[in-house]
Amino acid sequence: MADTVKLEIGGKASEYPVLSGTVGPDVIDIRKLYGATGAFTYDPGFTSTASCQSALTYIDGDQGILLHRGYPIDQLAEQSSFMEVSYLLLNGELPGKKELEDFTYTISRHTMLHEQLATFYRGFRRDAHPMAIMCGVVGALSAFYHDSTDINDPKQRMIASHRLIAKMPTIAAMAYKYSVGQPFLYPKNDLSYTANFLRMTFGVPAEEYEPDPVIVSAMDKIFILHADHEQNASTSTVRLAGSSGANPFACIAAGIACLWGPAHGGANEAALNMLREIGTPDRIPEYIARAKNKDDPFRLMGFGHRVYKNFDPRAKVLGKAATEVLDKLGINDPVLDTARELEQIALKDQYFIDKKLYPNVDFYSGVILSAIGFPTTMFTVLFALARTVGWVAQWNEMISDPEQKIGRPRQLYNGPAQRDYVPVGQR
Ligand code: CMC
Repeated sequence: MADTVKLEIGGKASEYPVLSGTVGPDVIDIRKLYGATGAFTYDPGFTSTASCQSALTYIDGDQGILLHRGYPIDQLAEQSSFMEVSYLLLNGELPGKKELEDFTYTISRHTMLHEQLATFYRGFRRDAHPMAIMCGVVGALSAFYHDSTDINDPKQRMIASHRLIAKMPTIAAMAYKYSVGQPFLYPKNDLSYTANFLRMTFGVPAEEYEPDPVIVSAMDKIFILHADHEQNASTSTVRLAGSSGANPFACIAAGIACLWGPAHGGANEAALNMLREIGTPDRIPEYIARAKNKDDPFRLMGFGHRVYKNFDPRAKVLGKAATEVLDKLGINDPVLDTARELEQIALKDQYFIDKKLYPNVDFYSGVILSAIGFPTTMFTVLFALARTVGWVAQWNEMISDPEQKIGRPRQLYNGPAQRDYVPVGQR
């Protein structure tokens, strides 16, 4: 693309710089557009709009590539750990041995919650959706950790980030324990981040919990695959909330609320519910027909993506992991057969080919999470737990960006023009 782009509106010409990133499409810098022309751009859903500069994550949707700080997601999922990926996202480079030990130790020292927070849970109904509990409890952290909320101090920002990463497993496990009526378990810091979470979720005070290495490794992989994903809806929500200078814990609660929707993080719960409803492979054609019917709001959950128009690389890793985990655990779940068959049928169907709809990260994650023993309502909670790292890394990047401003989109107004008020008796 040229270095500048010329635009002519009403006979008046203006020129806009074109900016290039390391890789990926160029962007047209239209910050001066309104001043120069009096016009706004119109882009509902931000399909053609870059809202910020970021050095964290790169996605090439046509090639099915996802990089964190330049490292391909499949390499990180196969060879790294969630703690290492968290360090990478927060700090920009992979840690050395000592740096990783120090980081892991720091996170482990922040895993406990203020004891008063436990009473919050008791205010919820036992059948409350755990995502509702997550929104409430994470938002409430802002009332407890006043010493890490000066967002202009990089040190305080890092403490708030460490606290959020460290406390999220404790909060998530407590949401689960509350729903099943079991006592909360305190964290055990000699366990790894992921093993500690599994123990707090599935352990009971009455006996020792031995984390199964197969499950720990699968869970860690799932966390890595969900750690960050560029400027998606919940990350943009965190950035928008944070752009006003809001408290970091409140910003992450806003991200959790956005993630909950079935078009975003809630799709993993919806995908497994759908696979269970389909039940057996012979019913797949019925659901494919429904997904293609314009008059039916039904969509194949776990299929399609705003950015990936080729395979979602995370789904590739998870599809393989689902078979491995179920094999290793000796579980024969017909849902996995239904998922595999559905994938094959959809990938050969002209509707899905034309619209470039492929399985996304949520298609196989539910099969694994269900094999591990999580109820479907916990699936999005696990997504939120892992994505917290991405959210805080993006939030930190935004606050330290000298070009950062409060997010304030404009609109195309199509309501009534100015008119005079008429008293009620004369209407
Ligand atoms: N099943 C059937 N048709 C679909 C599907 C689907 N899953 N996804 C998109 N389409 C059709 C849609 O009807 C539309 O058709 P037309 O052009 O004829 O109107 C076309 O494909 C484009 O869809 P869109 O809704 O305009 O695309 P989008 O980029 O706005 O939406 C999406 C992306 C992920 C919201 C959508 O594909 C979807 O709803 N998928 C199911 C929910 C899901 O799995 N979400 C998880 C996304 S990955 C994890 C995450 O980000 O949280």
